Amino acid sequence: MLAIIGGSGLSQLANLQITRRQVVRTPYGEPSSPATFGLLGGVEIVFLARHGYGHTLAPHEINYRANVWALRELGAGEVIAVNSVGSIAPHLAPGSLVVPDNIIDYTSGRPLTFFEGADQPVTHVDFTWPFSAAVRAALLASARDAGLAAHDGGVYAATNGPRLESAAEIERLARDGAAMVGMTGMPEAALARELDLPYAMLALAVNWAAGRGDSADKVVLADIATILDEGMVRVRRVIERRAGQLAG
Ligand code: HPA
Repeated sequence: MLAIIGGSGLSQLANLQITRRQVVRTPYGEPSSPATFGLLGGVEIVFLARHGYGHTLAPHEINYRANVWALRELGAGEVIAVNSVGSIAPHLAPGSLVVPDNIIDYTSGRPLTFFEGADQPVTHVDFTWPFSAAVRAALLASARDAGLAAHDGGVYAATNGPRLESAAEIERLARDGAAMVGMTGMPEAALARELDLPYAMLALAVNWAAGRGDSADKVVLADIATILDEGMVRVRRVIERRAGQLAG
């Protein structure tokens, strides 16, 4: 089953024919929201709102372990994570859709693994390529089929937030090789890998990161809403196309 984790601006899917909602409990507590099941283009999908339905959870407050565990328990076979990001690379102007191909984790203080505690063996999962090649390819193909441009690749820098970055921090991320910055990609991607869930990210650039482009002096959050709304319309189209492909 296709699972979607919706981020800022995507707390629901417009064309989803909702069949049921399910509150899930996990060994790690409750996920951010009840799981919403429904039919999208004829296939069953499950949707989770990362920040909760009322957007009440800040990035560092999200129970990533409960979210990822819940999706696995519910039978997810493919996870599309939707994330809004700040643009660092010049070619990713706000409004761009991107399917990143790697991650650098700058977060701290977040529960980041399922493999801890006396009853768990020490386990080191491979994370060379954090995203599933198959799901990335499917997302890029879906965007193409939908007639939408999506950039193939780029490094996603995960910062802790909730504050935005300083200009100097963004400079450093750029030197590190990051093309975009967001606050929710980690530990989510690593947890999905720990559970062997095929997982990839569809990112929407919603602003120039601090110090870049029109954010040279200040990141004006008020400007983000319009880009987010318009961009999420395209994100929904990509997801619908992916569901359509799975329907055959
Ligand atoms: N920084 C961090 N996270 C973000 C940004 C940003 O500029 N824009 C959207 N998510």
